[in-house]
Amino acid sequence: MDATVWIVVAVLAAVLLFILGWRWASRVWSLPCPALLAWSLETPLSDWIAGTAKTLERIGLRPGQKVLEIGPGPGRLLIRAAQLVLPGGEAVGIDIQPGMIERLEQRAKLANVANLKAILGDASQPIVPEASFDVVFLAMMLGEVPDRAAVLAQCFEH
Ligand SMILES: C[S@@+](CC[C@H](N)C(=O)[O-])C[C@H]1O[C@@H](n2cnc3c(N)ncnc32)[C@H](O)[C@@H]1O
Repeated sequence: MDATVWIVVAVLAAVLLFILGWRWASRVWSLPCPALLAWSLETPLSDWIAGTAKTLERIGLRPGQKVLEIGPGPGRLLIRAAQLVLPGGEAVGIDIQPGMIERLEQRAKLANVANLKAILGDASQPIVPEASFDVVFLAMMLGEVPDRAAVLAQCFEH
């Protein structure tokens, strides 16, 4: 093999090791996907890869429902969820990163979505104790949380 192939293999191996290391470390520390990478969840390609339309279809939201997403990031699912529960419904997202909350609010405004509330907080702690929801969901976030059982307990709590 020539040098170029070795370089490509070495770079791919380094990326894979980094991802695996990140995944492992997430079991011990809270290591959310950096808000700097929010753009990677905002493209038609990410919708296609992550199956945004299929996920929403399976969640099966209906007008009038109150829905909570844990770890919505920039709102790949939550902004559409907010539209699906209209008229009368409301969408709430709890995210641990101020940068993600800011981006979610910006994107909701751009999409003219007014029935979406973004809350900054760690979903493994009680955040909205008094609230209850018709539907609670999360996607692609559990792997970033050390105390996964606590996050799932919060889902059932609401
Ligand atoms: C990979 S993004 C996925 C975003 C969105 N759910 C999606 O599927 O497009 C994971 C999100 O979960 C958030 N997150 C990670 N740990 C969290 C925690 N303990 N509480 C709330 N949000 C958290 C991160 O800040 C990030 O925005």
